[in-house]
Amino acid sequence: MGGPPTTGRLHGEGLTLAYDQRVIAAGLDVAVPDGSFTVIVGPNACGKSTLLRALARMLRPRAGHVLLDGHDLHTRPAKQVARTLGLLPQSSIAPDGITVADLVARGRYPHQGLLRQWSRDDERIVAESMAATGVAALADRFVDELSGGQRQRVWIAMAIAQRTPILLLDEPTTYLDIQHQIDVLDLCAELHEEQGRTLVAVLHDLNHAARYATHLIALREGRIVAEGAPGDIVTAALVEEVFGLRCQVIDDPETGTPLVVPAARRRTAV
Ligand SMILES: Nc1ncnc2c1ncn2[C@@H]1O[C@H](COP(=O)(O)OP(=O)(O)OP(=O)(O)O)[C@@H](O)[C@H]1O
Ligand SMILES: [Mg+2]
Repeated sequence: MGGPPTTGRLHGEGLTLAYDQRVIAAGLDVAVPDGSFTVIVGPNACGKSTLLRALARMLRPRAGHVLLDGHDLHTRPAKQVARTLGLLPQSSIAPDGITVADLVARGRYPHQGLLRQWSRDDERIVAESMAATGVAALADRFVDELSGGQRQRVWIAMAIAQRTPILLLDEPTTYLDIQHQIDVLDLCAELHEEQGRTLVAVLHDLNHAARYATHLIALREGRIVAEGAPGDIVTAALVEEVFGLRCQVIDDPETGTPLVVPAARRRTAV
């Protein structure tokens, strides 16, 4: 099993994450390898979104630190963090009556300032982001009148329009049909392979996770049970330990990565 990576622009040390009295994780160390496509998997309510929020400065750890480029994330100005690190939350609510193009344009806000107004570059990046996620034809539609899958792709366009070197995506493939799931994952792979960006995504589909992740983190009850290359860590024993699911792990015929096949239901004699 791959041990925890020690270097990286983004990592958390001794994180205790809690909401009021409810402690979700205690003493958690987590490192995101630079230039990786890191995928976090784990059962519902194990703390994936909580961890992502802490890594994105949206949740202040009760103890420990999240470090970005060696500085405590929570002492950095929000706008400066926003230029380095983008987060697509698990569920986002668009402002009333906003169009697709205007929502995607909001991804450029962290780059504006008193001396830096809306530019042609911003315009181009917004158009490219909409094209990459297949929502260019929806540019003038209202976000609240779109289907769940269309809306999800608009949010992804907004997230990538930020052009941050580090991008955190909480379940980016939710609501998408299989073709659009693969399109979004291919887009993520491209962002990481061709542009050297660091991606962290929460995914529920273990087979997608095993195909796309360069670094996989399996989380259970706020603890990292295993991490490393999918081919090194995804075994039937791990899937049973993390999810309580009996399964076989075979080679994906397309990619050779681990493919999780759940055990068939046992028929009970009547
Ligand atoms: N704002 C909140 N206030 C209080 N408790 C919360 C809050 N958000 C999440 N929790 C609790 O924290 C725990 C972890 O939630 P989290 O959203 O991190 O899970 P998750 O792994 O992302 O699950 P899922 O796969 O369902 O998205 C859950 O028990 C949840 O009820
Ligand atoms: Mg979640």
